Amino acid sequence: MYNKVSTSVIDQLIKIVGIQNIILDEHLKDYAHDMTEDLNFPPEIVVKPENTYQISEILKLANKEKIPVTPMGARTGLSGGMLCVYGGIGLSTEKFNKILEIDTDNLQATVEPGVITQVLQNEVEKLGLYYPPDPSSKGSCFIGGNVAENAGGIHAVKYGTTKDFILNLEVVLPNGEIIRTGANTLKNSTGYHLTQLMVGSEGTLGIITQITVKLIPFPQYRLLLKANFVSSYDACKAVSQIFQAGINPSALEFMEKDAVDFGQKYLNLYIDDTQNLGGQLLIEVDGNYLDTLYQDIEKIYEVIHRFELVNEPLLADTHDKQEEIWKLRRCLGHAVKGTTIYKEEDTVVPRAKLPDLLNHVKMVGKKYGFQTVCYGHAGDGNLHVNIIQNDLDSKTWNEIIPNQAIPEIFEYTKKLNGTLSGEHGIGWVQKNYMPIMFSDTHLNLMKGIKKLFDPNLILNPGKIFNI
Ligand code: LAC
Ligand code: ZN
Repeated sequence: MYNKVSTSVIDQLIKIVGIQNIILDEHLKDYAHDMTEDLNFPPEIVVKPENTYQISEILKLANKEKIPVTPMGARTGLSGGMLCVYGGIGLSTEKFNKILEIDTDNLQATVEPGVITQVLQNEVEKLGLYYPPDPSSKGSCFIGGNVAENAGGIHAVKYGTTKDFILNLEVVLPNGEIIRTGANTLKNSTGYHLTQLMVGSEGTLGIITQITVKLIPFPQYRLLLKANFVSSYDACKAVSQIFQAGINPSALEFMEKDAVDFGQKYLNLYIDDTQNLGGQLLIEVDGNYLDTLYQDIEKIYEVIHRFELVNEPLLADTHDKQEEIWKLRRCLGHAVKGTTIYKEEDTVVPRAKLPDLLNHVKMVGKKYGFQTVCYGHAGDGNLHVNIIQNDLDSKTWNEIIPNQAIPEIFEYTKKLNGTLSGEHGIGWVQKNYMPIMFSDTHLNLMKGIKKLFDPNLILNPGKIFNI
């Protein structure tokens, strides 16, 4: 179906990007994986273009030669979106690392896709501005990958996911043509919204070369409350009640006991006695008026005291105390990955259905005999379900869990009016579950869009669905 990267193609790629921007040696293995499970698919060659024109030339060549091109950023993804499952050319955006403009008149910034998300956040914060989308990998992930997967993070609950901050994109299409998808405006009702189509398209429709994002004023104060619930079900139940009490939290995270244990072990910290812990909530409020925030905290106290707590909630009112708590929360992905083999699901349901979802996940785990470690963005109804391999036999791990247990979890998620992924994307590891969510008619519409953009199917093949 696809051609291999021939020596003549290598020569032409060297002409386009220069020999210094080509990888053909043992370093290819560094570009064979992201953070998804233990998957490895090396590209035949990696190119590191330095400008949009070079990307256009690479795509024209690959399109003519029918060679797959897989865009890749910092390789921190959790659905295998950058895996070169058909070999071919790995196109790294690491040289696209410039913040091109921070426009303080219009509260916008224009950046290249290889800018590390936290670098942008720090730069705009110096000007009193805020770019909220903050996946746990914010210190290493690229904003281009965030756009490709429509990344979320802990502050999405109040501010929205990456899609809510993208105004305009420069994109190279698979045939090498270059377009701008929208305008640098906050409103836009001008034809189909190609910007939003591109966000979350997982590198299958075009390669993003410039990103214009919306910024907002940086909130001056934050208060963070840590509440330890005896029952993880209760912790999840409290989530929707906090909103019903009139609070609009800037973060509302859930960690079950096992997740807290994983994090504490990983960081070599002993913060919480988890003996009687079922689940923990981290509830943050932010704003410009501290007295209002304390009033919010009072209301939150009232809600969480409706449930049985392990101890008095802890209020972290300084940046350092808050960061210590967030550090444990943010390390969980690494903590699980670093300790064990696992599969991760990214289920999301309407927030008040979260207790139901958690119960079902535990029920399926019991039925098939596996441990799950659950945590996530409870305020968004987004539960990360980590299925731990432990000493499961290979038939259970390789056949029964993927073909029976995970579909049962997803069927139930759908029944709760939820969906397969809240923020990690479908990529390589979730694509076989797409028919649970969508009819053939629906999937064919998506496949039709893919074919319209990429008739030769050269761009990031093998992702989202089989075509
Ligand atoms: C997190 C990643 C796994 O929430 O999405 O930490
Ligand atoms: Zn997450």
